[in-house]
Amino acid sequence: MEQQTKWWQKAVVYQIYPRSFQDSNGDGVGDLLGIIGRLDYLQLLGITAIWLSPVYQSPNDDNGYDISDYEAIMEEFGTMEEMECLIVEADKRNIKIIMDLVVNHTSDEHKWFIEAKKGKENPYRDYYIWCDPVNGDVPNEISSTFSGSAWEFDATSGQYFLHLFSKKQPDLNWANTNVRQEIYNMMNFWLEKGVGGFRMDVIDLIGKLPDQGLTGNGPLLHQYLQEMHQATFGSHDVMTVGETWGATPEIAKQYSDPARKELSMVFQFEHIGLDQQEGKEKWDIKPLSIGALKRVLSKWQTALGNQGWNSLFWNNHDLPRIVSRWGNDQEYRVESAKMLAILLHLMKGTPYIYQGEEIGMTNCPVTSIEEIRDIESINMYQERLSKGYRKEAIIQSINAKGRDNSRTPMQWDDTECAGFTTGTPWLHVNPNYHEINVKESLADPQSIFYTYQKLIELRKEHALVIWGEYQLIEDTAEEVFAYYRELAGEKWLVVANFSETNQTFLLRDVMDKVLIHNYQTDLPDTGELGLRPYEAFAAKIKSERR
Ligand code: NOJ
Repeated sequence: MEQQTKWWQKAVVYQIYPRSFQDSNGDGVGDLLGIIGRLDYLQLLGITAIWLSPVYQSPNDDNGYDISDYEAIMEEFGTMEEMECLIVEADKRNIKIIMDLVVNHTSDEHKWFIEAKKGKENPYRDYYIWCDPVNGDVPNEISSTFSGSAWEFDATSGQYFLHLFSKKQPDLNWANTNVRQEIYNMMNFWLEKGVGGFRMDVIDLIGKLPDQGLTGNGPLLHQYLQEMHQATFGSHDVMTVGETWGATPEIAKQYSDPARKELSMVFQFEHIGLDQQEGKEKWDIKPLSIGALKRVLSKWQTALGNQGWNSLFWNNHDLPRIVSRWGNDQEYRVESAKMLAILLHLMKGTPYIYQGEEIGMTNCPVTSIEEIRDIESINMYQERLSKGYRKEAIIQSINAKGRDNSRTPMQWDDTECAGFTTGTPWLHVNPNYHEINVKESLADPQSIFYTYQKLIELRKEHALVIWGEYQLIEDTAEEVFAYYRELAGEKWLVVANFSETNQTFLLRDVMDKVLIHNYQTDLPDTGELGLRPYEAFAAKIKSERR
């Protein structure tokens, strides 16, 4: 099996949100030279690929997810020469660069849309999705992820255009062959530059049928992806990961079954939705059920079989920090961050680390909307205010789920602005940077950083972590998440107390060797085990159950 392993099945991917990673020129915005300067740090961590959130030219309505030129670099971030340098410098450290491919929509400042808006006869008109008014109103009820209708009226032509995100992010019309060809050409432009693959933004929306009110998982979606595979990355040794909010295991297999020649893997979000109230919005939260989390993650561990591959993540630039969300970012910040890492990184699939996760960065609560930069939170705030919600309740939701939580600047050291910039940062720095920063983490052998480093090492050294069969251990306390991995007669046990109370775990096996542990004391090698708050470990098992 080992011979057939693809590089991305062994990889650990680190996501960089360039705006917030490292500023090199004092303008308060992270940039490419800043990233290049931190590659040695990433190499020390051990990661082998970087998912780079968009660096293309953009008016930044949605921080780069609104692209006005796919083949140019955003001025604030640097130049194309610096981008090429990043690819070369990363490669020297055995790190591949995965580009963020945002092709469900462009910016309204993209030349295609500027042309398309000129009128119905313009050759680019059909690059986007237009519709006549219905009874003098919007064509239908499709709403934008960023609040309000997804249809925006264009007075020049008297038609509406579709934008599933902001008004400045018009949706491309994938039914148009020219659109698809332009995108494939652009992807080949980047492949020729030596990138290691693509993370595909909301790719499950490209097959939409807006006139039928259908947005996700449209009928031609997989046909488009097979065509894309053939026209672009199919002949390159790269990885592709689709962002697919609506994926079930069956759908995930359609994307990632190697025989179907579509994508390497997808991001599924079923676990991420577990603290959301049924039928409500992401802002309306409920407590996480650990039992449900066990069921969901275990289902994904076993359901794909050989017909697909998992991506493993807790965080990204759209999600709150996991240690604040499902851990405890106060008393047990270090223990819970390590527990979450151990639990996830020893599962089957490709793990993703979001910048700052490896030092246990936390959410950053605000007291007023003026402190927020994220368009999604700002639009939701206005919408809920107009519906009569209390300001305090809205701010509470933003503090729990808002995207700026994970976008505050990376905390490098305890100098002003956390070593992120010498200027004024585009978004506030989390005041806890004095205690939580890279410099401190590197100096402390017991830090969260070294747990991540060790987990990456274990993955590099043991085929079991990549290929081992997963089995949930069912007869545990609800709060204890424990599983086995097994490959060719070798068996590992992973145990995590997913709570801040003491728990017990009946160790029916005999432990051979503890591989990683987030407390510094010895463990008995069999029998009843007391687990302290958020205690987690992995061990090699000596013999079968007694
Ligand atoms: C998903 C991205 O992750 C998010 O940041 C962005 O706002 C939307 N897609 C629109 O591109």
